[in-house]
Amino acid sequence: MKKANIIYHSKHGTTRAYAENIASLLGEWGLDAQALSIGQCRIHHLAEADYLLLGCWTSGLFFFGQHPDKEWRQFAKQLPVVSEAKVGLFTTYKLATGSMFHGMAQALHTKVNSIDLKLRSKSCQLNEAHKAALLQFIG
Ligand SMILES: Cc1cc2nc3c(=O)[nH]c(=O)nc-3n(C[C@H](O)[C@H](O)[C@H](O)COP(=O)(O)O)c2cc1C
Repeated sequence: MKKANIIYHSKHGTTRAYAENIASLLGEWGLDAQALSIGQCRIHHLAEADYLLLGCWTSGLFFFGQHPDKEWRQFAKQLPVVSEAKVGLFTTYKLATGSMFHGMAQALHTKVNSIDLKLRSKSCQLNEAHKAALLQFIG
């Protein structure tokens, strides 16, 4: 069974709930999937994963300057090189994600080979486009 670890950083719970919904859907599709906070994430969660989804809430000035917050950047900085897993990113936001994914990718550029999925949501719900993108990601 393929393993998917969904690692989130959430301030008020939306990104956590989104991560949990992703894990639940991937579980329905037959993967061994779990959502973990960056604080719960250990080396083995990275090493064992076939799919790794890394998520953070969008921080910025709403109209510009979006970036992953300091705690997530610190998490990214101390990650080992992830060479085995297919990697995707996700974020939740209110108005605009702007440079959020660019900031996340920049923080990860020495850690992952490529980023094969970017999901953004204004809520914790997965819409049909999110589901289709996830299906393609694991396909
Ligand atoms: C300090 C702060 C800055 C934020 N900046 C942005 C922003 O630039 N763009 C945006 O769309 N949402 C912004 N938001 C909204 C959050 O990204 C959004 O509510 C997100 O879903 C929160 O996730 P969480 O509940 O997991 O913490 C900001 C929220 C806070 C508290």
